[in-house]
This record gives sequence, C-alpha cells and structure tokens, in this order.
Amino acid sequence: MSILFSPVRLGDLEIKNRFVHSGTTESMAQESGEVTEALLGRYEKLARGGVGLIMPGAMYVQPSGKHFRLATGIHSDDMIPGLRNLVGAVHAQGGKIVFQLNHAGRQTVKAIIGQKPMGPSAYKRDPAYLVKPREMTEEDIRETIHAFGRAAGRAAAAGADGVQIHAAHGYLINQFLSPFFNARSDSWGGSNENRFRFLAETYKEVKANLPAEMAVLVKLNTNDFTPRDGVTPPLAAKYAGWLQQLGIDGVEVSQGSIYGMMNVMRGGIPVKEMLESQAAWKRPAAWFLLKGMQGKFDLEEAYNLAAAKVVKPALEGVPLILVGGMRRASHMEEVLQDGHADLISLSRPLIREPDLVNKFEEGKEEASCVSCNKCFAAMIADKPVRCYCKV
Ligand SMILES: Cc1cc2nc3c(=O)[nH]c(=O)nc-3n(C[C@H](O)[C@H](O)[C@H](O)COP(=O)(O)O)c2cc1C
Repeated sequence: MSILFSPVRLGDLEIKNRFVHSGTTESMAQESGEVTEALLGRYEKLARGGVGLIMPGAMYVQPSGKHFRLATGIHSDDMIPGLRNLVGAVHAQGGKIVFQLNHAGRQTVKAIIGQKPMGPSAYKRDPAYLVKPREMTEEDIRETIHAFGRAAGRAAAAGADGVQIHAAHGYLINQFLSPFFNARSDSWGGSNENRFRFLAETYKEVKANLPAEMAVLVKLNTNDFTPRDGVTPPLAAKYAGWLQQLGIDGVEVSQGSIYGMMNVMRGGIPVKEMLESQAAWKRPAAWFLLKGMQGKFDLEEAYNLAAAKVVKPALEGVPLILVGGMRRASHMEEVLQDGHADLISLSRPLIREPDLVNKFEEGKEEASCVSCNKCFAAMIADKPVRCYCKV
C-alpha cells in the first residue's frame, strides 16, 4: 500500500490517509457568518471524496478580524448550531474536520468590518487593501487572544476534531511574527522572542479552552515576501522549534502575504475576473498592478518544499503538512518517503475534483487543476468558490 493511504496521527487525532484539504475561504456563509446549506453540501462531498482531514476556510474569531464578506464566523455562540452541522456532514462520511481560526488584522477593509483595521503597528498603506492600520493597544491584544480562546471553545462545542491557528498569509498572527509588519518596542515586538509571544499566548489560550484530546495545529508562513525581510525560512524554523516545545500537534507550511499575495497560490493571474471585485475607481490602478503581476507567479510544483526542508528538522518529529502546488501522486509519495513532509495538503485541486483522493487511490497520477486562480478571483468577488476554469 502506498504511504499516501496509510494512517497518521496529529497528536491524538488519527487521520485515515495523508491527504488534507487546506483551508479554503468559500464565500458561502451568510453575511452574519452562519453556515449555509451550500457549505454543508461542499464539505459532505469533499469528505465523500476521500480526503482524510478537512480544514474549511478561515473562520473569524472577532468581527474586527473578518477577512471576506461571506467568510464563516466562529466569533459568537450563535454560530455553534451551524458549525455542529458542518462537523456532522464530514463525520457522517468518515472524515475528520479541524477549524481554522483567524483574525485578519490589517488585511481587511472598513467596508467589511465597519471600523479601521488594526495591526501590531500602524505601518504604511499596503499596495492592495490600501490600508494603514491602527496600532493595537495592550487591551486590544489581550481581547483578541481571548477571542481565539473562546472561538476554540466553540469549535469544541461544535464537535470539531481540532483547530488550526492561522499564522500565515499575512493575517494578524503572521503580522506579529514578522519583523516587517511588527515594529513594536514593547513586550510584543523588538525581538524574535517577543514577536513570537502573540502566537505563544494564543496557543496557550486555545489549549486552555479545549479538551486535551483535541488537536491544535498551526499554519505557519515561511516567507512573507515583504519589501524588507519579514518571516523567512530560517526564522520560520526558529518559530517551528518553539511551537514544538510548546506541544503543537502539527504544522502546515505556506508562504505569501499582502505583498506578493499570489505567492500563496502560485499560478495564473486572472486579470478580468479579479477586477470584478474592485470598486470602479480602483480598477485602472488595479488593472495596471495585475497586468504587471502576470507571469511572475507561475506555478512551480511543490513550491513550499524548499522551505519545508529548512523547517522540518526543527519540528523534531511533529508532523509537517506540506501545501502549495502538490499535483502528482508519485511526487507526493516521494516527498513523504524522503521524510520531507508527513501529510499533503491541497486546496485548488480539490476545488476542481472533490473526489481527487479517491481517484488517486484508483491509480490517477495527476490532478487536473491548472492553477488558473479563477476560483480565487470568485472568492474575493463574494462568489461561491468552485472551479470556474474553462479548460
Ligand atoms: C479560493 C481560495 C481560498 C483560500 N482560502 C484560504 C483560507 O481561508 N485559509 C488558508 O490558510 N489558505 C487559504 N487559501 C490558500 C490554500 O489553503 C493553499 O495554501 C494554496 O492555495 C496553495 O495550495 P494549492 O496549490 O493546493 O491550491 C485559499 C486558496 C484559494 C485558491
């Protein structure tokens, strides 16, 4: 039997195979954040398609941390009944489900959250959201860490198998970890230890709100691609080592932030579709920006593998989940056999082929996703995530 179909443990959580559905914002919740029937259908189908562990899209732990208008919420107890149904839909098909907990920090806009976005520092306007955030106070920081803990408690109440703390893609925790975004000189910045503190405190708060058997994972950036160094692979390895010491059950490695966002999902730049989500006044500048990006983020197979190799030794046996451009079954198997990763995580291939894992088991070699990123363009335009590719 291929290692791809052998079971694996993340802490006490046993997964039937090595495949993970990577967090994928669906733009399918209600505006209030509640789970919809469409969302249940999506995950029921994915679980039926064979993937061992499902992470739905990032769930916001506080209204101020909502990243897209139709993202799923875990910010209030009112969300629990819908989240329970989501867990039920996956469990009924023999799958496992872990909720990704997120706060957007500066990577959102007032039109979505009704207030000026906040971040560790009020560092200048970014090129895409055009947001110069307000600097978080000590009280903001404490409240947000508590919000992560309360959200974890809701995940437990909904019956989820674990949580994943989102510390990647330039969102709030990644902002604290980054020497570029975090210019604080108090105990939350100024040194790597201090920049790690927000994630460490969040981890402890989350743990304190969960039964011991529930898995706690982290999605960690290995490269922010900011104009000056943010998180880089050696710094990510340091953070991964500290996470291992804290007792983390698994780390998924990714890359990209609002600077060079398409590093998160390397592939095509669907200019026309991405312009649809922009206000009319922003379109000329956005067109120029997007045109200039074309060809610069082409898909490379396993584009996070080199960074994973830097991070892996620091994890000292804690499972590493590799995401980003994983497309061929034989290559995935090789990566696992060589010990560079323990699980393979997929987003876009499973948008196109929800039953891809079953197909791999039947002998299919390669995902048919061409990484055109029209699914991403749809998501930012508040359209339900699905494959919009014409090929
Ligand atoms: C439509 C879309 C939505 C995404 N939403 C999230 C998300 O909510 N949380 C997250 O951590 N990553 C998100 N990602 C990134 C994916 O999880 C993944 O890291 C990236 O797409 C690379 O993997 P792939 O080559 O298998 O698609 C999203 C990607 C896409 C295409």
